[in-house]
Amino acid sequence: MTRAGSGNLPAAVDARGLVKRFPAQQTPALDHLDFCVGSGEMVAIVGPSGSGKSTLLYALSGLIALDAGTVSVNGQTPDRPAAWTLLRRTAIGLVFQEDWLIPTLTAGQNIELPMLGAAIDKSARVRRVRSLLADVNGSELFDRRPASLSGGERQRVAVARGLANMPRILLADEPTGELDTANSRAIIDLLKRLRAKKGLTVIIVTHDLQVAEACDRQFLVVDGRGTDQVIVKEHAG
Ligand SMILES: Nc1ncnc2c1ncn2[C@@H]1O[C@H](COP(=O)(O)OP(=O)(O)OP(=O)(O)O)[C@@H](O)[C@H]1O
Ligand SMILES: [Mg+2]
Repeated sequence: MTRAGSGNLPAAVDARGLVKRFPAQQTPALDHLDFCVGSGEMVAIVGPSGSGKSTLLYALSGLIALDAGTVSVNGQTPDRPAAWTLLRRTAIGLVFQEDWLIPTLTAGQNIELPMLGAAIDKSARVRRVRSLLADVNGSELFDRRPASLSGGERQRVAVARGLANMPRILLADEPTGELDTANSRAIIDLLKRLRAKKGLTVIIVTHDLQVAEACDRQFLVVDGRGTDQVIVKEHAG
């Protein structure tokens, strides 16, 4: 694994001096935050509610305009919305805090959606959708519409969709928040397998200590400022 700033590979994510101030906000959502993630690293972003974690993920995927700072992804620093769109289509997978599944499409069609811009034929797309659904323990969800799914089932479909384009980097906002321990473990194991097999870089916002401990390190965000955090394991030994 190559850590940020070492080895030959560029950092998967190199964010410097991020400032984001929403209108009418007393304190900025991101306040001169630096965040660097090496290629193939698995990092948990932790911190209190309202501290800026989701805003940071939006910044890393180019979905919000920043007041200051720069974001580089795989050594590229997109400077136009079109460049970010291309990166999101080809290199970044996203799992949002609210799952944003399209209600009129089945689970399978929702997962297929990010693949429509890529040169993959229909039968290969469907094979990949079925394989992704199996990976998240959701094979039986293929034909179901989001309104008929439980919160945890929707979350698993959203994770499968985030992985649909075989991204180099997965940005996931509380992807296990609605899941029981076994399904949460299954998602983490899947991400670890993808990291081992394909060098996937995983950045995961979580309030779940078990998920945070499964990552290589934790990055603590408080009041829009970030620090690397060492979590002391209660039952170490
Ligand atoms: N679109 C917006 N307009 C105004 N304020 C916003 C907007 N989005 C976020 N904020 C504010 O920015 C701060 C950071 O929000 P953010 O969603 O990043 O928090 P979070 O750490 O993800 O919290 P949670 O753990 O509850 O999801 C909060 O004070 C929030 O109210
Ligand atoms: Mg959030």
